Amino acid sequence: MGKFVVCGGNRLFGEVNVHGAKNSVLPILAATVLCEDECIMDNCPDISDVGVTMEIIRALGGTAERSGSSLYVNSSGISKNEIPEMLMRRLRSSVIFLGSILAKCGRARCSIPGGCAIGKRPVNYHLNAFEAMGADARFDGKYIDVKVSEIKDSVVMLEMPSVGATENAMLFACLGERKTVIVNAAKEPEIVDLQEFLNKMGARVFGAGTSVVTIYGVKKLHGTKHKIIPDRIEAATYMIMTAAVGGKVNLKGVNFGHIRSVTDILSVCGADIEHSDNEICIKSDKRIGAYPMINTNPYPGFPTDAQSSLMAAMAVADGVSVIVENIFENRFTTAAELLKMGADITLEGKRAIIRGKQKLKGASVSSPDLRGGAALVTAAVCAEGETVIENTEYIERGYENFENILRRLGVQISNI
Ligand code: EPU
Repeated sequence: MGKFVVCGGNRLFGEVNVHGAKNSVLPILAATVLCEDECIMDNCPDISDVGVTMEIIRALGGTAERSGSSLYVNSSGISKNEIPEMLMRRLRSSVIFLGSILAKCGRARCSIPGGCAIGKRPVNYHLNAFEAMGADARFDGKYIDVKVSEIKDSVVMLEMPSVGATENAMLFACLGERKTVIVNAAKEPEIVDLQEFLNKMGARVFGAGTSVVTIYGVKKLHGTKHKIIPDRIEAATYMIMTAAVGGKVNLKGVNFGHIRSVTDILSVCGADIEHSDNEICIKSDKRIGAYPMINTNPYPGFPTDAQSSLMAAMAVADGVSVIVENIFENRFTTAAELLKMGADITLEGKRAIIRGKQKLKGASVSSPDLRGGAALVTAAVCAEGETVIENTEYIERGYENFENILRRLGVQISNI
């Protein structure tokens, strides 16, 4: 179990090269299962979730190697249709392999996926989508078993724009002579990146980024090379931290358009933001102000993955902020840790009321999940004295080189 020790108070100055998006590379790795040649993915973050996903490909019979930030994956040897339970438990996005295994092998089996404990996270939308597309999907409470019974044209109506269910339906739809229309599809930039990757492999996918995605199935897909989009949540994490503690940080290799919902809020709170399409400079030289009402929503709304960090920042902002978490039912667990640091937060169902304090104080806290762990580092950087953050392996699931990047920006942080 890793621990960070952070001595708070230093402002952040310097530059961060933002890595490729975790939530883009994971479904794209699952998509490589659809093709018989080598695929090369550039700009892949070196984080544990990517490592586990490469292990899944190997366990299925493919090969996956890393060289720098590039991944070389060859799925021609894939023969197994069942993902080992031990790997399924390690991350939620393991379930995205179902769509491509199903398309390739006609049957896919796995146990219930693991991942961060931020809500119930069922898989009913995924299974309903497979059923609508002509598969027979069974779930006995522990194992998921999906078999293709008929390849047919279909319309998949998603109850809500689930990112994972949209990805699974897209992957299953790519092979076989049929037309699939996904209605109420997720519009996240990671869905657009997946469409681009699939089309480079020879698929015919249209509409990603809107709420209707149409896929015309093809017989075969070929290998390709693709550069993963920048990680908007990694960028948001460093921006929010800088706004909260103060300083001036240049973020390079970002897509400004993908994080407008975050920069808009930080600007209103008093941070000074300059940008081009691929670079953002954030400057903050006074205590930031509170933001009265923040709602997390599907893209292009404010991302739930940046909610915990924003809560930590609002804990030291001037005034009262309210955050409403609309995506996951259990994503306020960070609040209990922030209270140990002297924050003033009241939870009322899906609303958190945060009364900003002039200062937080160092304490011993524990990462409840990936984004919550990063949020606690934000709080620690703003706090007086020393904070010990336990369970930092959660943070390593999604942030490459987190500790070194922060140290270079001026944070007093060590890993013990
Ligand atoms: N949901 C269901 N049934 C389903 C699927 C989802 O009820 O079959 C519910 C979920 O429980 C949740 C909501 O629908 O309340 C939205 O879930 P969604 O399916 O959109 O999320 P996901 O695909 O499981 C991805 C990201 C998450 C991110 C969410 C929302 C990946 C690998 N994960 O999860 O990222 O929070 O979309 O944007 O892409 C993270 O990076 O820390 C992270 C948790």
